[in-house]
Amino acid sequence: MWMVFFFVCVLHCTVAYKVLVCYPFPAKSMNNLGEGIVRHLLDAGHEVTFITVYPKQVTHPKFRQIDVSGNAALIENDEHVNITYILENSAEVSSDKEFLQELTWKIAVNTFQDANMRRLVEDTQGKFDVVIADLLETELYAGLAVLYDAPLIWSYSMGAHWLAIRMIDDPTNPAYSTDYYASVSPPYSVGQRFQILWQQIMWRYAKYFKYMPKEKNSFKSIFGPLIAKRGRKLPKYEELIYNASLVLSNEHHATGKIPKTPQNWKLVGGYHIQDPPVSLPKDLQVMMDNAKHGVIYFSMGSMWKSEMIPKRLTDELLKMFGGLKETILWKYEADLPHRPKNVHTIKWAPQQSILAHPNCKIFISHGGLLSSTEAIHFGVPIIGIPISYDQYINIEKSVTKGYALKVSLSYNLAKDLKPAIESLIQDTKYKENVKFLSSIYHDRPIPPGKELVHWIEHVVRSRGALHLRSIALDVPFYQKAYLDIIAITITTFTFITCLIKQLFRRKPTKQIKKKVN
Ligand SMILES: *[C@@H]1O[C@H](CO)[C@@H](O)[C@H](O)[C@H]1NC(C)=O
Ligand SMILES: *[C@@H]1O[C@H](CO)[C@@H](O)[C@H](O)[C@H]1NC(C)=O
Repeated sequence: MWMVFFFVCVLHCTVAYKVLVCYPFPAKSMNNLGEGIVRHLLDAGHEVTFITVYPKQVTHPKFRQIDVSGNAALIENDEHVNITYILENSAEVSSDKEFLQELTWKIAVNTFQDANMRRLVEDTQGKFDVVIADLLETELYAGLAVLYDAPLIWSYSMGAHWLAIRMIDDPTNPAYSTDYYASVSPPYSVGQRFQILWQQIMWRYAKYFKYMPKEKNSFKSIFGPLIAKRGRKLPKYEELIYNASLVLSNEHHATGKIPKTPQNWKLVGGYHIQDPPVSLPKDLQVMMDNAKHGVIYFSMGSMWKSEMIPKRLTDELLKMFGGLKETILWKYEADLPHRPKNVHTIKWAPQQSILAHPNCKIFISHGGLLSSTEAIHFGVPIIGIPISYDQYINIEKSVTKGYALKVSLSYNLAKDLKPAIESLIQDTKYKENVKFLSSIYHDRPIPPGKELVHWIEHVVRSRGALHLRSIALDVPFYQKAYLDIIAITITTFTFITCLIKQLFRRKPTKQIKKKVN
């Protein structure tokens, strides 16, 4: 009997689930988050299908990739990622609220037209135990959960705020929580509160009146025939998009100013980081080991390429860097001749391994959430040059937490960077603050990758983790806003006042009449 018990136990513990991980947005940073999920799931023995724009040359018996690299064409030559264009036109993506709603919807439609994707979804034998989809403005990928009759998990790349929290609970109060478009963090002034409220109203207007109808049509035309082929009926779009079991949120409390989150909002920030990091290539290792005065690592991420910085500004930056005693490691995607001796460029940077090196003193970054998290993970202070999306708010938070300085992207960049670098080198408080936050960040019951796998398995085991859902989703808006009670109160009050008025009006008239008589 014990043998049987043991056998059942082993069987139960080694159950491998089939997981669909969907990351069709053409941005390398997002894809890094997807790769993180894939890596942890494969390590835990699960079978993973990964929808990706950047497929890798790997063969693994339990790993399959759905190549949707065609999506990259949708943002190629986009002026929003051209630093020269941004400088010349002082353009921010953040000022264009509808841009991303339109783009993400187009990308979703394009994804489902992709030949590789069609092969996946048209295969009626295809089965998955859970679908994990990257959430960015559009919710069309929720259709995959219906197609495979599997629980849905949203993965969210830009931290805890109302735009994503609204998918599993009431959105948080705009008086203290904002979204990735904001450039200020709470507490807010009257003007800022007005602005943030207005932004939310405008976002909702665009979403509900322009993009939801488009998404619903796309949902019907894409998933209608597929689900009919599987002999089922299409549910209502509104029902399924708010039906996720969890949100896996790429953030950690150490960054601070996180609003209240529901119980199925899982802050697993940092899971994409490989710890211990992979070792540096030999030449980089030697270079960093020998940097007597430390290394300043400069990278604008994968989307905004340093080679797009205008030549004049590049020359000024090189000159300024040349005057420093530190070694500069610049992620620059093209050849950069006539560099000062202390400036090294690399076309592709093993960022985590660079930040992990004890000689890495400063990280000059656009402040995307992956870079910000990596800076806290490895305890490196930041100089932030935000360009768009959540970068402004991330840098704003890092500055208030005392481990970063902000420098604006402008033609004065070289002039403005110099004093920022000097402050960060001379004043040890930035390093102390980031080390303190790093210790908070690492002080967790289990590492984020393990936690991530736990919650994904939990969703499958508990058939959608219905017990974690917020009750708020079942309550209609008029009840939450107490509109019915307000209506009843007003009606009752009006009725009673009218009644009393009527009563008091009659009595005196009778008395007067009596007196007259
Ligand atoms: C970037 O923008 C500048 C200025 O608008 C333009 O001259 C340049 O051709 C653009 N570069 C690319 C690669 O699109
Ligand atoms: C909502 O999710 C649960 C659990 O995954 C599932 O059983 C149910 O069918 C889903 N409903 C819709 C409308 O998708």
